[in-house]
Amino acid sequence: MIFRQLFDRSSSTYTYLLADESSREALFIDPVIDNINDYLLLLEQLELRLVIAIDTHTHADHVTALGKLRDATGCITMFGKQAQSTCATAAFGDGDLLQVGDIAVQCLYTPGHTDDSYTFAVEDGNRTLLFTGDTLLIRGSGRTDFQNGNAIDQFASLHQKLLSYPDDVVVFPGHDYRGWTQSTIGEERKYNPRLQFDKAEAYAAFMAKLDLPNPKLMDIAVPANRACGNS
Ligand SMILES: [Fe+2]
Repeated sequence: MIFRQLFDRSSSTYTYLLADESSREALFIDPVIDNINDYLLLLEQLELRLVIAIDTHTHADHVTALGKLRDATGCITMFGKQAQSTCATAAFGDGDLLQVGDIAVQCLYTPGHTDDSYTFAVEDGNRTLLFTGDTLLIRGSGRTDFQNGNAIDQFASLHQKLLSYPDDVVVFPGHDYRGWTQSTIGEERKYNPRLQFDKAEAYAAFMAKLDLPNPKLMDIAVPANRACGNS
């Protein structure tokens, strides 16, 4: 599998490009509109044909490149079916499989950060890769205080869905503010402070006290993302 982890400096967002070496079919996860020219150039240089672009959730801190990528490449754009998207080509639901050449992307509904948050699971040889969006971050978890976030739901997503994977499964998060690029389920199980709560209520009480400022772009980004970045 061809794999690139790309970084958006202004929002500390990770964007992932996955492609099948033989068919040259490619998928973007969480592309950022500001970097559209870089993405198109990279697709051209790697001789890839973009077939699908997906977001893990409706982002509040950056505008998605889904609409622009569809305009430029004719790719399919998809969000989770819970997203209030007016413009995506199609929607995925829990357990759905998206096929990109020989790459199968399994969609896991992992609400909590938002009510439209998904994790994508991909088998790569003998490794399993999880693209966790803002549900599970490296030594952290996404905030749950806006966009229908819910800490009780997030606790269930983390413990019942993501931590049910074996320790050697690789975690690729939606952001990292220190530039840490990847982790594993085992590492997070052991060292992520947000995963050390026994009960959902204790986790929710902790999350309720975080008192974080809203992301700078939130009022622009959320409506724009519901329109695939085209408004
Ligand atoms: Fe987010």
